[in-house]
Amino acid sequence: MSFTIAIDGPAAAGKGTISKEVARLFGLAHLDTGLLYRATGARRLDGMAPLEAAQALRAEDLDRDDLRSPDVARAASEVAAIPEVRTALVDFQRAFARRQGGAVLDGRDIGTVICPEAEVKLFVTASDSIRADRRYRELIGKGVDTTPEAVLADLRERDARDSARATAPLKPAADAVELDTSTMSIEEAVARACEVIRAAMQD
Ligand code: DC
Repeated sequence: MSFTIAIDGPAAAGKGTISKEVARLFGLAHLDTGLLYRATGARRLDGMAPLEAAQALRAEDLDRDDLRSPDVARAASEVAAIPEVRTALVDFQRAFARRQGGAVLDGRDIGTVICPEAEVKLFVTASDSIRADRRYRELIGKGVDTTPEAVLADLRERDARDSARATAPLKPAADAVELDTSTMSIEEAVARACEVIRAAMQD
Protein backbone atom coordinates (compact mmCIF):
# COMPACT_ATOMS: atom_id res chain seq x y z
CA MET A 1 0.00 0.00 0.00
CA SER A 2 1.25 3.51 -0.67
CA PHE A 3 -0.11 6.40 1.38
CA THR A 4 1.18 9.86 0.50
CA ILE A 5 1.15 12.90 2.77
CA ALA A 6 1.91 16.22 1.03
CA ILE A 7 2.99 19.08 3.30
CA ASP A 8 3.50 22.47 1.64
CA GLY A 9 3.99 26.01 2.85
CA PRO A 10 6.31 29.01 2.92
CA ALA A 11 9.79 29.05 4.48
CA ALA A 12 10.07 28.56 8.25
CA ALA A 13 6.34 27.90 8.81
CA GLY A 14 7.15 24.66 10.60
CA LYS A 15 6.55 22.16 7.80
CA GLY A 16 9.97 20.53 8.13
CA THR A 17 9.55 19.83 11.83
CA ILE A 18 5.95 18.66 11.40
CA SER A 19 6.91 16.40 8.45
CA LYS A 20 9.76 14.71 10.31
CA GLU A 21 7.62 14.09 13.36
CA VAL A 22 4.62 12.83 11.38
CA ALA A 23 6.90 10.47 9.39
CA ARG A 24 8.36 9.13 12.62
CA LEU A 25 4.98 8.66 14.34
CA PHE A 26 3.35 6.89 11.36
CA GLY A 27 6.49 4.99 10.34
CA LEU A 28 6.65 6.59 6.88
CA ALA A 29 9.66 7.63 4.77
CA HIS A 30 10.25 11.38 4.57
CA LEU A 31 11.61 13.54 1.75
CA ASP A 32 12.40 17.22 2.31
CA THR A 33 12.08 18.28 -1.34
CA GLY A 34 13.63 21.68 -0.55
CA LEU A 35 16.92 19.80 -0.28
CA LEU A 36 16.73 18.91 -3.99
CA TYR A 37 16.51 22.61 -4.88
CA ARG A 38 19.11 23.55 -2.26
CA ALA A 39 21.57 20.96 -3.59
CA THR A 40 20.94 22.24 -7.13
CA GLY A 41 21.43 25.83 -5.89
CA ALA A 42 24.66 24.88 -4.09
CA ARG A 43 26.08 23.36 -7.29
CA ARG A 44 24.96 26.48 -9.15
CA LEU A 45 27.01 28.56 -6.68
CA ASP A 46 29.92 26.18 -7.41
CA GLY A 47 29.65 27.32 -11.04
CA MET A 48 27.55 24.57 -12.64
CA ALA A 49 24.65 25.37 -15.00
CA PRO A 50 21.34 24.93 -13.10
CA LEU A 51 19.79 22.32 -15.41
CA GLU A 52 23.00 20.29 -15.55
CA ALA A 53 23.18 20.51 -11.74
CA ALA A 54 19.60 19.24 -11.34
CA GLN A 55 20.07 16.41 -13.83
CA ALA A 56 23.32 15.27 -12.21
CA LEU A 57 21.93 15.30 -8.65
CA ARG A 58 22.79 12.22 -6.57
CA ALA A 59 21.56 11.14 -3.14
CA GLU A 60 24.86 12.09 -1.47
CA ASP A 61 24.50 15.70 -2.70
CA LEU A 62 21.57 16.05 -0.29
CA ASP A 63 23.97 15.59 2.65
CA ARG A 64 26.20 18.58 1.91
CA ASP A 65 26.87 20.57 5.08
CA ASP A 66 26.29 23.98 3.50
CA LEU A 67 22.71 23.39 2.30
CA ARG A 68 21.08 25.33 5.18
CA SER A 69 23.00 28.58 4.60
CA PRO A 70 21.09 31.75 3.57
CA ASP A 71 23.13 31.98 0.32
CA VAL A 72 22.16 28.47 -0.71
CA ALA A 73 18.51 29.16 0.27
CA ARG A 74 18.44 32.12 -2.11
CA ALA A 75 20.15 30.17 -4.90
CA ALA A 76 17.62 27.34 -4.35
CA SER A 77 14.69 29.70 -4.76
CA GLU A 78 16.27 31.10 -7.95
CA VAL A 79 16.93 27.74 -9.63
CA ALA A 80 13.45 26.58 -8.50
CA ALA A 81 11.91 29.22 -10.78
CA ILE A 82 13.43 27.54 -13.88
CA PRO A 83 10.77 25.19 -15.35
CA GLU A 84 13.34 22.72 -16.79
CA VAL A 85 14.99 22.36 -13.38
CA ARG A 86 11.63 21.49 -11.82
CA THR A 87 10.88 18.97 -14.57
CA ALA A 88 14.27 17.29 -14.02
CA LEU A 89 13.35 16.69 -10.36
CA VAL A 90 9.79 15.38 -10.83
CA ASP A 91 10.45 11.65 -11.38
CA PHE A 92 12.62 11.28 -8.29
CA GLN A 93 9.94 12.92 -6.12
CA ARG A 94 7.05 10.87 -7.59
CA ALA A 95 8.97 7.60 -7.22
CA PHE A 96 9.65 8.49 -3.59
CA ALA A 97 5.97 9.33 -3.01
CA ARG A 98 4.83 5.95 -4.36
CA ARG A 99 7.17 3.82 -2.28
CA GLN A 100 5.70 0.88 -0.44
CA GLY A 101 4.58 1.72 3.06
CA GLY A 102 3.92 5.35 2.24
CA ALA A 103 5.77 8.64 2.39
CA VAL A 104 5.69 12.21 3.63
CA LEU A 105 6.97 14.85 1.20
CA ASP A 106 7.32 18.49 2.16
CA GLY A 107 7.87 21.42 -0.18
CA ARG A 108 5.96 24.06 -2.12
CA ASP A 109 4.16 22.18 -4.91
CA ILE A 110 3.69 18.66 -3.55
CA GLY A 111 -0.11 18.84 -3.21
CA THR A 112 -0.59 20.84 -6.41
CA VAL A 113 1.89 19.35 -8.92
CA ILE A 114 4.02 16.45 -7.65
CA CYS A 115 1.31 14.44 -5.86
CA PRO A 116 -2.12 15.87 -6.70
CA GLU A 117 -3.55 12.45 -5.71
CA ALA A 118 -2.00 12.51 -2.20
CA GLU A 119 -4.28 11.05 0.47
CA VAL A 120 -3.49 13.95 2.81
CA LYS A 121 -2.57 17.54 1.89
CA LEU A 122 -1.56 20.07 4.51
CA PHE A 123 -0.66 23.70 3.88
CA VAL A 124 1.36 24.99 6.82
CA THR A 125 1.60 28.76 7.39
CA ALA A 126 2.55 31.27 10.09
CA SER A 127 2.75 35.05 10.16
CA ASP A 128 5.81 36.69 8.58
CA SER A 129 7.13 37.97 11.90
CA ILE A 130 6.78 34.59 13.64
CA ARG A 131 8.50 32.79 10.77
CA ALA A 132 11.33 35.32 10.71
CA ASP A 133 11.76 35.04 14.46
CA ARG A 134 11.94 31.23 14.30
CA ARG A 135 14.45 31.28 11.44
CA TYR A 136 16.55 34.00 13.16
CA ARG A 137 16.87 31.89 16.33
CA GLU A 138 17.75 28.82 14.27
CA LEU A 139 20.50 30.67 12.36
CA ILE A 140 21.93 32.31 15.48
CA GLY A 141 21.95 28.89 17.15
CA LYS A 142 24.09 27.64 14.28
CA GLY A 143 26.52 30.52 14.67
CA VAL A 144 25.39 32.43 11.55
CA ASP A 145 25.93 36.19 11.94
CA THR A 146 22.65 37.93 10.98
CA THR A 147 19.91 40.27 12.22
CA PRO A 148 16.12 39.79 12.61
CA GLU A 149 15.56 42.46 9.93
CA ALA A 150 17.84 40.71 7.43
CA VAL A 151 16.13 37.37 8.05
CA LEU A 152 12.65 38.89 7.57
CA ALA A 153 13.71 40.63 4.35
CA ASP A 154 15.24 37.38 3.07
CA LEU A 155 12.12 35.33 3.82
CA ARG A 156 9.84 37.88 2.17
CA GLU A 157 11.99 38.01 -0.94
CA ARG A 158 12.11 34.22 -1.21
CA ASP A 159 8.35 33.77 -0.59
CA ALA A 160 7.54 36.46 -3.15
CA ARG A 161 9.68 34.69 -5.78
CA ASP A 162 8.32 31.23 -4.85
CA SER A 163 4.71 32.50 -5.02
CA ALA A 164 5.02 34.62 -8.16
CA ARG A 165 6.80 32.15 -10.46
CA ALA A 166 4.82 30.84 -13.43
CA THR A 167 5.63 27.15 -12.92
CA ALA A 168 4.38 25.36 -9.80
CA PRO A 169 4.10 28.46 -7.58
CA LEU A 170 3.72 28.21 -3.82
CA LYS A 171 -0.03 27.97 -3.18
CA PRO A 172 -2.40 25.67 -1.31
CA ALA A 173 -4.09 22.89 -3.28
CA ALA A 174 -7.87 23.39 -3.46
CA ASP A 175 -8.34 20.38 -1.16
CA ALA A 176 -5.50 21.14 1.28
CA VAL A 177 -6.16 21.56 5.00
CA GLU A 178 -4.55 24.81 6.14
CA LEU A 179 -2.62 24.78 9.40
CA ASP A 180 -1.64 28.20 10.78
CA THR A 181 1.08 27.52 13.36
CA SER A 182 1.52 31.18 14.46
CA THR A 183 0.19 30.59 17.95
CA MET A 184 0.86 26.85 18.20
CA SER A 185 3.65 24.99 19.91
CA ILE A 186 5.40 22.28 17.88
CA GLU A 187 3.47 19.66 19.86
CA GLU A 188 0.12 21.33 19.10
CA ALA A 189 0.93 21.64 15.39
CA VAL A 190 1.99 17.97 15.19
CA ALA A 191 -1.13 16.88 17.11
CA ARG A 192 -3.39 18.78 14.69
CA ALA A 193 -1.56 17.29 11.67
CA CYS A 194 -1.98 13.80 13.16
CA GLU A 195 -5.75 14.36 13.57
CA VAL A 196 -6.08 15.23 9.88
CA ILE A 197 -3.99 12.21 8.87
CA ARG A 198 -5.88 9.74 11.09
CA ALA A 199 -9.19 11.00 9.70
CA ALA A 200 -7.91 10.42 6.14
CA MET A 201 -6.63 6.94 7.02
CA GLN A 202 -10.12 5.94 8.17
CA ASP A 203 -11.75 6.95 4.87
O1 DC B 1 11.89 24.29 1.89
P1 DC B 1 13.20 25.04 1.67
O2 DC B 1 13.22 26.38 2.33
O3 DC B 1 14.38 24.21 2.01
O4 DC B 1 13.25 25.29 0.06
C1 DC B 1 14.30 26.00 -0.55
C2 DC B 1 13.79 26.64 -1.84
O5 DC B 1 13.49 25.62 -2.79
C3 DC B 1 12.50 27.45 -1.68
O6 DC B 1 12.76 28.83 -1.58
C4 DC B 1 11.72 27.16 -2.93
C5 DC B 1 12.30 25.91 -3.50
N1 DC B 1 11.38 24.76 -3.44
C6 DC B 1 10.48 24.61 -4.45
O7 DC B 1 10.39 25.47 -5.33
N2 DC B 1 9.66 23.53 -4.49
C7 DC B 1 9.72 22.59 -3.53
N3 DC B 1 8.91 21.51 -3.61
C8 DC B 1 10.63 22.73 -2.45
C9 DC B 1 11.44 23.85 -2.42
